[in-house]
Amino acid sequence: MKAKLPPGPRLPTLAQSILLRFYWPRFVAACERRYGKAFTLKVTSLGPVVFLADPQDIKEVFTGDQSSYRAGEANAVLRGLLGDNSLLVLDGDAHRDWRRLLSIGLGRDAVARHADMIREVTAANVCSWPLDREFPVARRLEQITLEVILRAVIGATNPARLTELREVIPRILNMHPFATLAVAYPGLRRRLPWRAVSRDFELLDRILLAEIADCRADPDLDARTDALAILVRTAPGNMRGQSITDAELRDQLMTLLVAGHDTTGAALSWTLERLVRNPTVLEEARRAAQHSAAGDPSGDDYLDGLLKESLRIRPVVFNVARVIHRPIELAGYSLPAGITVAPGIGLVHACPELCP
Ligand code: HEM
Repeated sequence: MKAKLPPGPRLPTLAQSILLRFYWPRFVAACERRYGKAFTLKVTSLGPVVFLADPQDIKEVFTGDQSSYRAGEANAVLRGLLGDNSLLVLDGDAHRDWRRLLSIGLGRDAVARHADMIREVTAANVCSWPLDREFPVARRLEQITLEVILRAVIGATNPARLTELREVIPRILNMHPFATLAVAYPGLRRRLPWRAVSRDFELLDRILLAEIADCRADPDLDARTDALAILVRTAPGNMRGQSITDAELRDQLMTLLVAGHDTTGAALSWTLERLVRNPTVLEEARRAAQHSAAGDPSGDDYLDGLLKESLRIRPVVFNVARVIHRPIELAGYSLPAGITVAPGIGLVHACPELCP
């Protein structure tokens, strides 16, 4: 009879969880070398997690019957941060409806309409970088991506609210590990050590709800290009005639703010890190940027390839997760219902046969 779960380290669950917490990519990559393309780690609060490194197995997870592979359930820990209606924590029909609606405001055309704004925000920030000394560039890049997301997603223009958003969002996303307990367990926010977290969430909710109210009442709603306006405008026709509530909108805005600016900020930071360590590629990138600015598409192609290669060798999201809802044959094992499978983006990217 086939074993139910792939092999994995015999260390106690707590030890495996600590290794994952502090050495995620290194620990997971070492397990792949030791146990092969499918292996099981034991994680506190999740139980066994089967990591997958074979593209065929991963394809099965992404293209198989999606009612059996539940992404929302695997992301449940994000509910305290993003809310119960966030696209990232939904499954089934609700996920499909919201995903379709959000795609309208975030598709290629919608993004293209923000190109000038993105250029302006980037230029203004880069022009303020010091030229005579070293400085931590990651924070500056996060400022750029946050500013872009605030304008593209919420269409925020009120200066007082923008200032508060620029302060409160990084505070929430960079909170101390101890403070994150109040995200996993929102009930803690009433207690003294976590009151500051509670105040930050209340402030952010107040601003988002004010933006939603202004948007719903905006006489120029039809002319707006931000994702919030597109959601408000197109919801009735795309959500089976249902209107959408402020709480639902708040949760989707939080999702886009968080999913959109941290990821892109980290991707840009790693790209600069790789470039300064590879002067030949940096020089080539400089030339490509000049070609691109002059309207030569070969410059765009080079920069596009450069960003994809940077995302390959420094993946911002190392793996995703799905809770399986019925027993499944995968990677040569009979996996029981209820366990989590984790397609290993970083593992596939580092596979020498696929990416020589
Ligand atoms: C370098 C940049 C980015 C990376 C590496 C990245 C990566 C990812 C990954 C790995 C997932 C999970 C997919 C899954 O579980 O199947 C995801 C989901 C998502 N991302 Fe991104 N992302 C990036 C930028 C963005 C931006 C700019 C936005 C929006 C403004 C965004 C919005 C979302 C949303 C809404 C989801 C949930 C999709 C769903 O559940 O259907 N992401 N992203």
